[in-house]
Amino acid sequence: MKTRILSTSEYDIALAGEIIARGGLVAFPTETVYGLGADALNDEAVKSIYTAKGRPSDNPLIVHIAEKNDIKTLVKEVTPKAQALIDKFFPAPLTIILPKSEKVGDVVSGGLDTVAVRMPENETARALIKAAGCPIAAPSANTSGLPSPTKAKYVIDDMSGKIDAIIDGGDCAFGVESTVITLATEIPTILRPGAVTKEMLEAVIGEVDVAKAVLEGMQNDEVAASPGMKYKHYAPKAKIIIVNADKDGYEKFVNTKKDCFALCFEDDNVTISKVTFGRENDDLSQAKELFDALRKLDEMGAKKVYARIPHTTGVGMAVYNRLIRAAAFSIIDLTKPFFIGLTGPSGAGKGYVCEYLAKLGFHIINSDEVVKKIYENNLPLLRRLADIFGNDIIKDGTLDRNRLGEIVFNDNEKLKQLNSIIHPEVIAQCEQLAKPLSVLDAPQLFEAKAQNKCNVIITVMADKELRAKRITERDGISYEKAMERINAQLSEKYYIDHADYIIYNNGEDIKTQIDKILEEIL
Ligand code: TXA
Ligand code: MG
Repeated sequence: MKTRILSTSEYDIALAGEIIARGGLVAFPTETVYGLGADALNDEAVKSIYTAKGRPSDNPLIVHIAEKNDIKTLVKEVTPKAQALIDKFFPAPLTIILPKSEKVGDVVSGGLDTVAVRMPENETARALIKAAGCPIAAPSANTSGLPSPTKAKYVIDDMSGKIDAIIDGGDCAFGVESTVITLATEIPTILRPGAVTKEMLEAVIGEVDVAKAVLEGMQNDEVAASPGMKYKHYAPKAKIIIVNADKDGYEKFVNTKKDCFALCFEDDNVTISKVTFGRENDDLSQAKELFDALRKLDEMGAKKVYARIPHTTGVGMAVYNRLIRAAAFSIIDLTKPFFIGLTGPSGAGKGYVCEYLAKLGFHIINSDEVVKKIYENNLPLLRRLADIFGNDIIKDGTLDRNRLGEIVFNDNEKLKQLNSIIHPEVIAQCEQLAKPLSVLDAPQLFEAKAQNKCNVIITVMADKELRAKRITERDGISYEKAMERINAQLSEKYYIDHADYIIYNNGEDIKTQIDKILEEIL
């Protein structure tokens, strides 16, 4: 099929309208992104949209209208809240979901009993709908999974040869797709954030929820409120990692990197190859340029990209929502005190891992040493412990750690009590020692609930027998005692289930395993 490139002239719009009325496909500009349109009431035409995009058929399309009143025949009822939104915003980058009328087929609604309706602000878009004489079903005009097109050239890249025509209407004003809000739920809920913000909607209809998946993504067993939420989206070929840091922290981090790109704001002082998306604290400029930037990164052959983090409120929520999907939810959080939390059962060999990480320049914080210091010369603490565990835990004015150990290791309640006193203190002191790229070496990382303070959790693991043997040799205790100690710790499964990465130390090469992990997280 030869795809015609049309202008926004009256003549070309009339021609495009005819193509749609005949059941053809036309890509057209809107104020958000380019849409790929077909007659919304013609099932065969709508089916060809799914084919051209390679889109899963259970992901419904938005029906575009030219006049406010055109929504009436598409939905069961225009509820008072829907009417209020229409009156206030339409035409706008806003899509409203309501229970659908019989007129709307199952293909366009992806088999759901609701329909999404939007009246675009863009004049060409509305002129086209009028020329076609029917509502126009239109998803974004990209190949499914790629960033939405904000310029005609990207539509040409994705759709040439697959559709009848493309109207070139220049760059899209907003650059991210419309806000999608469902009014089919008890509390109106934003399924996709856009330029019409939660605050703007709430000012008109009161309480508005934001679907959890908007900022956090979907858990595997969750049912999507909007089918679009569950599909991989906006994914460029490059691996994107969002860096949560301020301007200074981001620049310092990214300027040490090699062979990768920065996806940053205009004024960022970045010495590696970069592509920018708008200005800091200017959410609208970021929205406008994000998809363009993602496509540029692919054109430049970027493999790995560190992105600055947008705001998560206002229009920033729309930018963050798209970027976090493009990044497949990978974030490095430099605002967390510890870059790596290193844990594992006794005898697994955390020491070797720490030694190697230290050689690579990481700053190691040894929680055992911090614990020892906490007990030293800390009379108020010792008195507090003596009140609970008995005076014989103090010998010559210092803590008798063996005695305290005997008491707590045979009594779970007492152990918990001790931990609840010591752990918060240890974590606070470790935090004070933290520097950029710190590793928290903590056998009791999980017990102390310190995992949330770390970017990534690495567990070092070895077979039980081997651990017992190592403990026996290292601490000069019997095999039985070593096993007792092992059995009093968290289970192997717990350590493994709660870690992002596991390093096995039964004779495997530790360095290679660490190098591989660091390559992934850095
Ligand atoms: O700005 C926009 O909305 C652009 C322009 C072309 O208008 N269109 C657009 O369409 O972004 P699309 O198909 O790429 O995204 C529509 C989103 C999808 O995530 C889809 O799952 C959701 O809206 N959606 C559509 N109908 C729905 C329904 N009945 N219930 C829940 N979600 C729905
Ligand atoms: Mg889309």
